[in-house]
Amino acid sequence: MMPSTVLVTGGAGFIGSHTCLALMDAGHNVVVVDDFSNSSESAIDRIRELGDSDKLVFHRVDLRDFDGLDQVLHDHPVDAAVHFAGLKAVGESVARPLDYWDVNVGSTMTLLRALGTHGVRTVVFSSSATVYGDPNVNPIPEDSRIAPTNPYGRTKAAVEWLLDDMAASDERWHIALLRYFNPVGAHPSGRIGEDPSGIPNNLMPYLMQVAVGRRPELVIFGDDYPTPDGTGIRDYIHVLDLAEGHVAALDALSELPGCRAVNLGTGQGTSVLEALDAARRVSGCTIPHRVGPRRPGDVASTVADASLAKDLFGWKATRGIDEMCTDAWRWQSQNPNGYAV
Ligand code: UFG
Repeated sequence: MMPSTVLVTGGAGFIGSHTCLALMDAGHNVVVVDDFSNSSESAIDRIRELGDSDKLVFHRVDLRDFDGLDQVLHDHPVDAAVHFAGLKAVGESVARPLDYWDVNVGSTMTLLRALGTHGVRTVVFSSSATVYGDPNVNPIPEDSRIAPTNPYGRTKAAVEWLLDDMAASDERWHIALLRYFNPVGAHPSGRIGEDPSGIPNNLMPYLMQVAVGRRPELVIFGDDYPTPDGTGIRDYIHVLDLAEGHVAALDALSELPGCRAVNLGTGQGTSVLEALDAARRVSGCTIPHRVGPRRPGDVASTVADASLAKDLFGWKATRGIDEMCTDAWRWQSQNPNGYAV
């Protein structure tokens, strides 16, 4: 693909920051918007430090602010958008559904209006395997049942349907709905990574915070699942593979009109005990842990059928669980408090 200019919403977040860098490394320019509601301005500084800083412009905008976004697109014409911005905590979404619908669905509506005004109709959307809920097939192909089990997942499914409706209304739209499995790891420089606010919900940042001494122990949520070692199995994917998947999707989209959902995963499952073992090996730290009850809403196993991404985008994940843990550990040990100084 020719070098282009890409709007990246939520570009200071975990996946957004790595994708900005991957886009810049591939020769593209990025126009980043973020409101830092769940991210840090330091991430932008560090992307600039790691990549060609001339290729990045940044504006602090709340995506529900049409005029703010319209001004950015007026000042910086773009060819495509990658839309990450949104709220993403399952538990919080159960307590605050209206905020999730407002931010995740409302901001996408504003974004689409602004993009349409400026003639931009190539969009990559940050969706999630959460739209499958408790999967009826495993590995999960894209045409599996869509049955999210919480408000967060329902907002992701709603945005997918909205984008599908947009593509059906006008054949000029080229849209990819990327359904991520479990993104982990960090940039190998140790300068950008995942920085969850408060107590991490997810396994990998929790493991790393125990290893670095920030939390006393890992609680394994159940060891009586119908899996070989009894703990939950997930398809962890290195954030660099994921970021490269976005670049490949954008490249391919020029030839792919319409709207399509594509899984981004490795196709490989890893149990909680296997992830714990990898984290222990690469960090050299003892990681205190105990088995607790199952977490409500968790399923035994989710693994991607990752074949469509290979067919459509010519992309496939290449990094394994040890590399994911090595890079996550480098980030965590060099930045024990994340971006906070
Ligand atoms: N786990 C533990 N202890 C912890 C945290 C997690 O044992 O402290 C276990 C979970 O029970 C699960 C596995 O580690 O078996 C992975 O849990 P995560 O919370 O890291 O990931 P999930 O697959 O549960 O959730 C992720 C995303 C959600 C998304 C979901 C479905 O974080 O946003 O995938 O796609 F909704």
